Amino acid sequence: MAENSQVQLVEKPTAAALNRFVKPIDISKLVAQYGTPLYLVDEDTLHAKAKELHSAYSKFKGPVKVVYSIKANFTPAVIKIFMKDGVTLDLTSLGELHFIKQCKADPENVIYTSVTEEPEEYVEVLHSGVRRVVVSSFNGMTNLAKAASKVGARPLTMIRVNPEVGVKAEVRASYRNGKFGVPFNGGTIDSAAKMVKHLMGSDLLKFEGFHFHLGSQITDFSCYTHALDKMDAFMTKMKKENPTFQVNTFDIGGGTPVFYNDPVPTPAQMAENHVSKLNQLAETHGTYTLMIESGRFLVAESSMLVSRIVNTKEYNEHKIVIVDAGYHILLDAALLKQEYPQEVVPVLDSKDRTTALAPVKNTHLAGRLCDTYDVFPLSKVSDLDESEVGRYISFYNVGAYSVVFNMPFHCQTKPPIVMKDSDGKFRLVRKGTSYEHLFREEGGELA
Ligand SMILES: Cc1ncc(COP(=O)(O)O)c(C=O)c1O
Repeated sequence: MAENSQVQLVEKPTAAALNRFVKPIDISKLVAQYGTPLYLVDEDTLHAKAKELHSAYSKFKGPVKVVYSIKANFTPAVIKIFMKDGVTLDLTSLGELHFIKQCKADPENVIYTSVTEEPEEYVEVLHSGVRRVVVSSFNGMTNLAKAASKVGARPLTMIRVNPEVGVKAEVRASYRNGKFGVPFNGGTIDSAAKMVKHLMGSDLLKFEGFHFHLGSQITDFSCYTHALDKMDAFMTKMKKENPTFQVNTFDIGGGTPVFYNDPVPTPAQMAENHVSKLNQLAETHGTYTLMIESGRFLVAESSMLVSRIVNTKEYNEHKIVIVDAGYHILLDAALLKQEYPQEVVPVLDSKDRTTALAPVKNTHLAGRLCDTYDVFPLSKVSDLDESEVGRYISFYNVGAYSVVFNMPFHCQTKPPIVMKDSDGKFRLVRKGTSYEHLFREEGGELA
């Protein structure tokens, strides 16, 4: 946890407390029906997170919009849950656009933030009815203007600024000379100042406001303070240079953290850090709609992955537990050394057991892949006591940046996903794939 936060952190939960929605008996039934690995998602948690994030900013004196970055989890059933809540959808590719169109999402309730910003891409975006676009380069802005002229629409255009502030997090998006956004003043054309000027005089695009995104899993909020201070100074300068300058929407990106290993601040504690600054910006520069983006916070805690222990072995005083999951379905365990909390699913008849297994101190949890990196870092709350072949291990808080990275390394198939609806019923929302399906997908029929 970062040193700057004077916030009082809630105590760390036990691994068992992280399973908010599935009883061991239901897990037994579900794995009997669908096998393992198996993702389980809880609808109620998704609604609760959207509500929590929105109310965290209740002290902002203006409209607040919660925006779901579907890159974190594009399972159509998950997208549809957030559509029920009226959450805005943040898209970054034509593939994501296809998904939300198929889900029949309202294109007016979308914000499109591309890295590629190609002319044909923008034509398709505008054709689909999306009218709010974040541009990240002068070329991108020009391409959007061409697309607007072709389609006959005047999109609300926001500029993605890189405030170049230090972010104390594993995933940072605001580093100097980076690929995201433009500096306030920088290159010959790629600067927010030049783009504002251009937009203010454009008949094809309507200047709407600013966007920044600092990083993910941010627990030290000083970066937001620094970024907002810089925005304040920049907006004052813009008003001087462009008398009609007015910001209607300001999007402060994602980054709200979730629990994996150490306790993290709540969204309310996070908002407390900068809501007065956001209000001061509104007082100084005029009221605006505040957008709060989130991928991780909105979906992470909604999901768990159930895997089966397929083998164990002893190595001196260590115990290696091998499960049928791996980083092909939990990539961030290898990429970011993400410590997903794990727990051996309690046995239903534990009180009848005659042979309690002694806890093993040095337990290592390994995946099924033949790869050195396929060993799962343990969370401080992980509980792997009583790991034995045939029992199940749950990985908690896996709803973000997991399903979207499922990959076929070692010819592995995609696990099914089951959702627990608000009425308590479980339903299959993604079928698992088969080896035959994968074989054909990889060109087996064409070989
Ligand atoms: C522009 C933008 N907004 C929001 C997010 C979501 O970030 P998080 O999942 O940390 O909330 C991302 C993640 O990469 C992003 O690139």
